[in-house]
Amino acid sequence: MGFKVQDHYFKKAKKDDFLARSVYKLEEIDKKYKIIKKNDFVVDFGYHPGSWVQYTSRKVGVDGKVIGIDIRPLNKKLLPLKNVSLFEKDIFDVDTTAQLGADDKFNVVLSDMAPNTTGMRSVDQDRSLNLVEKVFEVMPVFLRENGNMVIKVFDSHQAQKFLKEQKSMFKEYDFLKPKSTRSVSKEFFVIGRGYKA
Ligand SMILES: C[S@@+](CC[C@H](N)C(=O)[O-])C[C@H]1O[C@@H](n2cnc3c(N)ncnc32)[C@H](O)[C@@H]1O
Repeated sequence: MGFKVQDHYFKKAKKDDFLARSVYKLEEIDKKYKIIKKNDFVVDFGYHPGSWVQYTSRKVGVDGKVIGIDIRPLNKKLLPLKNVSLFEKDIFDVDTTAQLGADDKFNVVLSDMAPNTTGMRSVDQDRSLNLVEKVFEVMPVFLRENGNMVIKVFDSHQAQKFLKEQKSMFKEYDFLKPKSTRSVSKEFFVIGRGYKA
């Protein structure tokens, strides 16, 4: 049975009508690095349950668009959002924007994807890194020149090494562990701005 820590951010998310506490991680990153703008076209890998989609949908506005994919069944609570399209898909089966009904690249690539954790740290780190590597693999197909990205990473020596190798793809490249991340968590986010397509 799942166990939810009902901390400050969990309660705040409920009160603010967000579907998950993760929204405060994206909010902090976006406030600090100005990732998402009005009218942007955004893809959110691993969107479920959808707090990042809720936040991004508001931020891009009616003339922007958010496309979310997740291996989990569609979250029907997000269906009223008119500028959002959702797909039940595995990132490992996605290689083109056309598979997501898009005929153009995105201004922003988001990924909060996390593997099902086993409790064995090295296995979880490897699975997280596979997801991170896949996002970087599809970046040339999905992200426009000068676009921005935010990707969640489980920290490990291999992940640090891999991420350092990708640094030159962006004009600005930062790592951040948001304040709302649980202190025991080994996750952090890599933030790239100004993609050099
Ligand atoms: C931490 S949750 C995302 C929370 C979300 N950002 C929000 O604000 O509600 C991580 C998600 O990654 C998804 N995921 C894991 N592996 C995936 C894969 N191979 N393809 C697509 N989504 C995946 C999981 O199903 C899970 O819903």
